[in-house]
Amino acid sequence: MEKEGISLKESIAKTAKSFLKKTESRDILLISHFDTDGITSATVMIKALKRLDKRFSVKIIKSLEEKFIETLPKDKIIIFTDLASGSLDIIGKNNLQDVFIIDHHEVSKEVPIGVEIVNPWFNEKEKFSSAGLVYLFCKELDSRNKDLLKLAILGMIGDFMEGTIKELDLDFLKDDDVNIKQGLMIYPSTRPLNRILEYNSNPFIPGVTGNSKGVIDILRESGINPENGKYKSIIELTEEEMRKLTTSIMLRNPKTNENDIIGNIYLLKFFSKLEDAREMSAMINACSRLGRSDTAIGLCMELSEAKKKAEEIHARYKQHLISGLDFVSKAEKIEGKGFVIINAKDNIMDTITGTIASILSNSSLYQEGTIMITMAYYEDKVKVSARMCGRVSNGRNLREIMENVINEVGGETGGHEMAAGCIVKKENEEKFLEVLQKNLEIEMVKI
Ligand code: C5P
Repeated sequence: MEKEGISLKESIAKTAKSFLKKTESRDILLISHFDTDGITSATVMIKALKRLDKRFSVKIIKSLEEKFIETLPKDKIIIFTDLASGSLDIIGKNNLQDVFIIDHHEVSKEVPIGVEIVNPWFNEKEKFSSAGLVYLFCKELDSRNKDLLKLAILGMIGDFMEGTIKELDLDFLKDDDVNIKQGLMIYPSTRPLNRILEYNSNPFIPGVTGNSKGVIDILRESGINPENGKYKSIIELTEEEMRKLTTSIMLRNPKTNENDIIGNIYLLKFFSKLEDAREMSAMINACSRLGRSDTAIGLCMELSEAKKKAEEIHARYKQHLISGLDFVSKAEKIEGKGFVIINAKDNIMDTITGTIASILSNSSLYQEGTIMITMAYYEDKVKVSARMCGRVSNGRNLREIMENVINEVGGETGGHEMAAGCIVKKENEEKFLEVLQKNLEIEMVKI
């Protein structure tokens, strides 16, 4: 899928120029995905459009479905962020003109006439997440938008793309909105250690996770004691304390790889306070997945009323996740060679199938390279999430597998090599399961 052979930078500059021209006297409809990358992409775009004094409206959606595309107005400029690369054929079929797409999901169809797209898939694959791309695009619209960098970083972290953050803007380290430290990646790194060690299960520390006495023991053993009744946070530890605590964790869980638990901690200033980006991302996801993307946007816009609401929603979301994980651990599974399918039907929310699949695929429960599929009902549809366990794909591409299945069964799909999703009609559930298993078995024979 080649696109004019231009670099990503050239593509951003060209598209931004065209966007400025086309939006001179037209209203804009911004449509973005509901996860951290989509919410931060939308926030950057909202702030940039306000600066340009444009008239616009915003819709945040959990997936881009054909029925929704059919309802889109033809008189507005439509800008999709963090979605639509997998729906180019449907956009073309609906004859939408003056569409802009800024997205990083894989592209498999031709770009229809009337659509301008910025997507590293054409030139520098896996370079930036959508928030990174939207940030670079908005900086091109108006250089003052460089002050939105922290939102781009947050989006990149939400999509696990820390590796290329430094390529967004070489000057960002001077920015006091952003602070990067090396340390134990147990979040939130800004809260007292006793609390986070007890409640955080990534990494799972035997005898410590969920055990308040074990927490005090490991901290004492690492030479970390409370001061005025309060424990330090990870970012307040001295180098020696951090080293000793890391050793104690690894002694309790010898399977832990040091590179997995030590890394960059990204602190971003929100509401005049440095916050752990991973915790902010978890809060945004929680809000959206419980149907409150408005609060997620409010949080990114730093609206004071959104913060408390987001914290309450996050606490409620964690309860949903715990009961969801409890359900899938006991649920009947379809296990084949190199894949596991868990059809939770009505027992978990469709908006957490992805998170549950991600947690299972990152746990040591399944062998590296196993394909984890989770399914749940919503309305008259089934939401499906697919994840590759561990870090190796064995040459299999989940987006391609899902697309092959959807081409036969019908529905919407999209994603990447290691994580993809789709939606099918409930009436096609049996057929979907049958075609999916057939495709997973074929893929297994190929490797
Ligand atoms: O929904 P889920 O978290 O399982 O999605 C995995 C990946 O696939 C995400 O990056 C999501 O944006 C993408 N996806 C998509 N189109 C769909 C479903 C998922 O692009 N219909």
